[in-house]
This record gives sequence, C-alpha cells and structure tokens, in this order.
Amino acid sequence: SLVHGTELFAAARKGHYAIGAFNTNNLEWTRAILGAAQELNVPVLIQTSMGAAKYMGGYELCQQLVEATIKSMNITVPVVMHLDHGNYEAAKAAIAAGYNSVMFDGHDLPFAENLEKTKEIVALAHPKGISVEAEVGSIGGEEDGVVGEGELADVEEAKQLAATGIDFLAAGIGNIHGQYPANWTGLHFDRLQELADVIKQPLVLHGGSGIPQDQVEKAISMGVAKLNINTECQLAFAKATREYIEAGKDQEGKGFDPRKLLAPGTKAIEDTVKEIVGWMGTKPVK
Ligand code: G3H
Ligand code: ZN
Repeated sequence: SLVHGTELFAAARKGHYAIGAFNTNNLEWTRAILGAAQELNVPVLIQTSMGAAKYMGGYELCQQLVEATIKSMNITVPVVMHLDHGNYEAAKAAIAAGYNSVMFDGHDLPFAENLEKTKEIVALAHPKGISVEAEVGSIGGEEDGVVGEGELADVEEAKQLAATGIDFLAAGIGNIHGQYPANWTGLHFDRLQELADVIKQPLVLHGGSGIPQDQVEKAISMGVAKLNINTECQLAFAKATREYIEAGKDQEGKGFDPRKLLAPGTKAIEDTVKEIVGWMGTKPVK
C-alpha cells in the first residue's frame, strides 16, 4: 500500500538499515520493482525523475500507474511514490498529483535560494503528510538532464537545510550518477561522518549503482537510510534484452511480440532489485 516516507525512513536510520529507492520508466519497470519488494517482503520507494515523468505522460499518470499496479498485483508491502531530483515546479506538480514524497533538488541555485525554496516546498508538502528530500553539495555526473559537479556537501549548509524540517537529506560525498569512472577514489566517509554527527534526518546516498558493497554497507551503518538506484537496473535491462535478441530467441516465436521482447529485461530488473536489497539489510515487514 502507498505510504508517506517520513516514518519509514526515520525507522531505517534508527535501525541502521536502508530502503531502496528505484527509478521507474514504464509499466514493466514498475511491476519489476514492486514484484521484487513484495517477494522479499520489504518496503520500497519507487521514484520518477522529471524526465521519466515526462516520458511516461505526466505526474498524474505516474502516480495513478503505481497506485493501480499496487492494486492489481496485490502488493501489501509499504510503497512510497517519490519525485526524484525535482525542480521547484516539478515538486509542486508532484505534490498536486498525489505523490507521497518529493525531492526538491536546488543544488544548482545559490544556497540562499535553495534554502528558501526548500522551505516553501516543505510548507506545501507537510500539511498533506508528504515527505521532502533536499540536496546539499552535488552528485557528480548526469541523470536525465540533471547535471552535478560533485562538490562535497558543506556541513553548515547541511545544518541549515535540515533545520527547514525536511525529512531526508541528499548530500554530495563523492558519489556520482551513472557509471563510476575507473579512477574514482571512493566515498568521502569523513564528510559523511561530519554530516551524520549533526543531521538527525536519514541521509540519502544517490548514485548507488556501481558503489562497491562494502562502501554501501559502511555508509548505511553511518546514517544513510535511502539508497538511490537507477543505472544498475538500466544496465541489467539493456544487457538481458540485447542477449535475447542477439541469440535470435525473439525469432522462435513471432519475432516481434513486444510482450516477449520485454520479458527478459523485466526479469533482469527484478533480479537486480532483489540483489541490491540484499545489500541494504532492509528490515522485512512484519
Ligand atoms: O537519483 C537517482 C540516483 O541517484 C541514481 O543513481 O543511476 O547512479 O544509480 P544511479
Ligand atoms: Zn540522484
């Protein structure tokens, strides 16, 4: 069932585990993520970037798709429908469309404006119970047109953002969207510790794809309670689809049945979600 994120993630930080936040793109992706969570009996967060929401037909359709899929699949685990890296307009639109949670990503604004707009989004969201994620510093790389320089989160700025009453905080700690370059030197655990010491809200680790398991586990033990994963599912989907077609398996049937063409990739997303959830120690639902 659909729930807001505040209590779910606060419990995760307190319990030293994380909950997976997976990006969706369409019906297949949505079914794969929800099906994996249900099979493992764990809560899950499903999110759309602004780009994915545009691709899928808008925030209302995304919200309705997730809600209807939960119903048709008899999903009983808690599901948070979240906006990933939204600008000010997108956050307002997702709130109006009935999302349970929104990220307002003001990392590219002057800090005073990021702070001001974050406050405004909190004021719009909280009366409806909708949780809010803000960002300080930036995530390196690019995701659906959102570009970051990868600068480390400033602890003072993080404190000020946290004081707005946000429910979770995304902080740049050397993490990067997309695939990690070969010369990547790892997460900045010193900065993560400084942040975790003063921020009581759950911390969010973006760019989860490709971070070695031991670094993910260490970050979770230090206060990360939301792990964002996008690229890993895309890679798994693309690989399985390519292999299926290159092996000529699509020719066994009609060769052009979309339900057959999309099946191996969908299964690969489900397997990927299950594997990553295993790393996070997500506490099963009673
Ligand atoms: O906001 C989404 C995530 O930060 C995804 O990052 O594509 O590197 O897994 P990723
Ligand atoms: Zn991200």
